[in-house]
Amino acid sequence: MGKRIWILDTTLRDGEQSPGCSMNFHEKLEMAKQLERLGVDIIEAGFPVASPDDFKAVEAVAHQVRDCRVAALCRCVARDVERTWEAIQGAAAPRLHLVLATSPVHMEHKLRMTPEQVLSCAVEMVGLAKKLCPDVEFSAEDASRSDPEFLAKVCCAAAQAGASTINLPDTVGYSTPQEMFQIVSHLRQRLPEQVVLSVHNHNDLGMAVANTLASIQAGATQVECTINGIGERAGNASLEEVVMALHTRRDYFGCETGIQTRQIYRTSKLLSTITGMEIPPNKPVVGGNAFAHESGIHQHGILAERSTYEIMSPEEIGIYQSKMILGKHSGKHALKERIEELGYRMSEEDLAEAFERFKALADRKKEITDRDVEALIRSSTVYNLKETYKLDSFVINSGTVISATAVVKLIREDGEVLEHVSRGEGPIDAAFNAIDRIVKMDSCLENWSMQAVTEGEDALGEAVSKIVCNGHRITGRGLSTDILEASIRSYLNAINKAIAIEERMVAEK
Ligand code: KIV
Ligand code: ZN
Repeated sequence: MGKRIWILDTTLRDGEQSPGCSMNFHEKLEMAKQLERLGVDIIEAGFPVASPDDFKAVEAVAHQVRDCRVAALCRCVARDVERTWEAIQGAAAPRLHLVLATSPVHMEHKLRMTPEQVLSCAVEMVGLAKKLCPDVEFSAEDASRSDPEFLAKVCCAAAQAGASTINLPDTVGYSTPQEMFQIVSHLRQRLPEQVVLSVHNHNDLGMAVANTLASIQAGATQVECTINGIGERAGNASLEEVVMALHTRRDYFGCETGIQTRQIYRTSKLLSTITGMEIPPNKPVVGGNAFAHESGIHQHGILAERSTYEIMSPEEIGIYQSKMILGKHSGKHALKERIEELGYRMSEEDLAEAFERFKALADRKKEITDRDVEALIRSSTVYNLKETYKLDSFVINSGTVISATAVVKLIREDGEVLEHVSRGEGPIDAAFNAIDRIVKMDSCLENWSMQAVTEGEDALGEAVSKIVCNGHRITGRGLSTDILEASIRSYLNAINKAIAIEERMVAEK
């Protein structure tokens, strides 16, 4: 048995606060559920004092998650500590995570506090947190640019005041692996043995994962990371890269985590689906090309012996290659089996809905691949809270000599059929304008993108529409072999989500 490394996932906090990655209440809950299945030790659910929405989401995650710790971040300010505790006290194992900067630049320009004030504030606030919550983590923000002696003094004092975990963030991604090794080694010698030493590395210079691994070698036993490496600016250390490095090179690191590696791929996909943030094809571990072997020499090697060019197998991270092809004649049972083989669980209701979509797709596409099935699963769960409007039909005229015109017909939940015709800068703009006229919502399209789920002439396309509606950023997704239809469905999906959010807010008032 190797040394056990604790994984704190901060996708819902540091990840979520980065541009383009915001998630709504339901999406955060769905993501938390998947992180629990993935086997992370601690889910950092958010920053409750940032907004009432953040507070509610953290509170809901704390109530829902039972199999891992739930942490929430707060500043070293008494009312923030108390309010954050209110958000997480319902968790099976709550953790209060306090942060206070220790670097000269942060203390002088951001906090406007002297080092002595920072020291006494850390002690006082950790003491307060400890009275509320048995599990307290203290982070010395910008630790890597702090004076090592002062850093050690604050961290030891915080530990003495009750922090059971001390976290050393490389907040601006400035450190090198050798420097992180030194910082962690120094602190490990100074802190009592029972205090867990943690690191939190940002990726501004592309060294977050290397810094995290070097810190583990120096004695860190908790690491903070995010799925797909999302996070402030260039992101955080990517969970899948850290975990698979430890797993694949256990001969070298001699460490293990509690992560169910076979859940990695679907966790990564789920996040990308929810946020609309595509995974670059060359991203280690989860990128589309991570297991693709294009060149003849490599293919030959792989066929002769996989380990010639593959250091981990796709199956290890939960990518399965099925032997049986699904198609038009496959029944619900075959779809259910494939879904389960891929490692997903679905309620009977979701399965029935996924089967309807499967049949519609099989009418247009000869072979339904695993990637198609996964796309169907994704579009049948989180994304269909309630469909106030369903697409009935559309007709679009466009070309180089006329401006695009779209006629869109929708069916509202009360059964009324609504139709509108609109012009636009192109076919998609025209169709979205027609939908706007029908639904009459005050929303604005921020971004639209399209990508092929599979290759070939009858490839399934997945469109993503990001809208802003009453201050909420919402991501909608649509699937079809027809790119216009996929786009319309993605826009409608975003509108339906916006309506669900509005209705929830009205109900809660
Ligand atoms: O990057 C950072 O310093 C942080 C802390 C709040 C842990 O995210
Ligand atoms: Zn951070």
